[in-house]
Amino acid sequence: MTTPFTDREVAENRGATPGCTDDLVHLNHAGSSLPPQVVLDAQIGHLRREATIGGYEAAAEAVDRSAAVYDSIATMIGASAKEIARTEHATAAWNAAFWSIPMAPGQRIITHDHDYGANWVAFLRAAEVHGVEIDRVPSDVHGQIDLERLATALEHPDEVALVSLAWIPTSGGLVNPAAQVGALANAAEVPFLLDACQAAGQVEIDVDELGCDFLSATGRKFLRGPRGTGFLYARESILDRVTPSHPDHHGADWVSMDRFEYADGARRFEYWEHDHAGWLGLGAAVDHALELDIARVHATIDERAEQLRRGLDDAGMTVQDTGVERCGIVTSTHRSLSPAEVADRLTKASINVSTTMLGSARADLEPRGLTSMVRMSVHCTTTSDEIDRTLDVLRSL
Ligand SMILES: Cc1ncc(COP(=O)(O)O)c(C=O)c1O
Repeated sequence: MTTPFTDREVAENRGATPGCTDDLVHLNHAGSSLPPQVVLDAQIGHLRREATIGGYEAAAEAVDRSAAVYDSIATMIGASAKEIARTEHATAAWNAAFWSIPMAPGQRIITHDHDYGANWVAFLRAAEVHGVEIDRVPSDVHGQIDLERLATALEHPDEVALVSLAWIPTSGGLVNPAAQVGALANAAEVPFLLDACQAAGQVEIDVDELGCDFLSATGRKFLRGPRGTGFLYARESILDRVTPSHPDHHGADWVSMDRFEYADGARRFEYWEHDHAGWLGLGAAVDHALELDIARVHATIDERAEQLRRGLDDAGMTVQDTGVERCGIVTSTHRSLSPAEVADRLTKASINVSTTMLGSARADLEPRGLTSMVRMSVHCTTTSDEIDRTLDVLRSL
């Protein structure tokens, strides 16, 4: 079993992170985390070069460092560099994959109640444009996707366009059994699109173990990278089954006046223009996470999240997390105050939290009779004292 960071190591993690001060408790890593100094240095350093010598010239100077970001991400998730596409955020990555998958009228999109709001909107749009149906596999008694019902839904694979799953949903501590979902999708030879937005940087990722054909992630959450960054993993073997929907002259080569050819590998999902400084910052964030050891980051997050869940009860809050395996996202409600009011009180005490709203998790919240929840999320920079401070404020409400 992997050991969490010691208090001394957590202090070191904090020391490497300018936002970790005694004045602020940041429990919003699932929203946007606090980047370590190395991320700022990579990003700001590049911005300075752009401003000093010109954007294209700075890009030329950083060409090897930029290429190395693909290698770092590939190392982190057990892929090859050419299976990685740079994107602006997780939704851009997810959409690039989703809209490349062929869908015929009457086919089904298999999903689960915890899929992200933006993904549900895309399903509804795909129902409009392709005439597909949304097949909502229910949760089991623990709140995670029901694997038996999924197996049944996959009995006629020709009827299924794809399986989509949020590995770690926005709306709770649940960790869905993604590898088991991948095994079922792979056996049925149905494309498997995994939303790893809240997983990247929080848990170890091995795309072969997960069996995903696509994996989408963002930079700013548990990876602690810059805002406006993300990536898509596209398995090499899926590429001849899908067609990127909006290629440009970087994702495709314009080979003659009437013809283009898709670029090799996952690059076909990219656009030429991008935030170079952000991408380098993301690379620094991935390298930092790998140096820390994501298994230990995960163990530390688990320990802190459990401490928080234990304390919430006693502080008059109801923990709303479901699932067999849980993570660093902790959702709760107060007996009388609304989540927005609780968040407001915490903000006034310099404690950053967020609220999960219906718009991002309707299929999960509605059946549970919830309209919103307080969402607190911890990281390997969170101390026990910070949890205690937060619980003190909650107890006083
Ligand atoms: C599970 C999940 N998927 C996707 C997203 C979208 O990520 P982004 O805002 O980077 O596009 C989020 C954002 O909170 C999320 O929690």
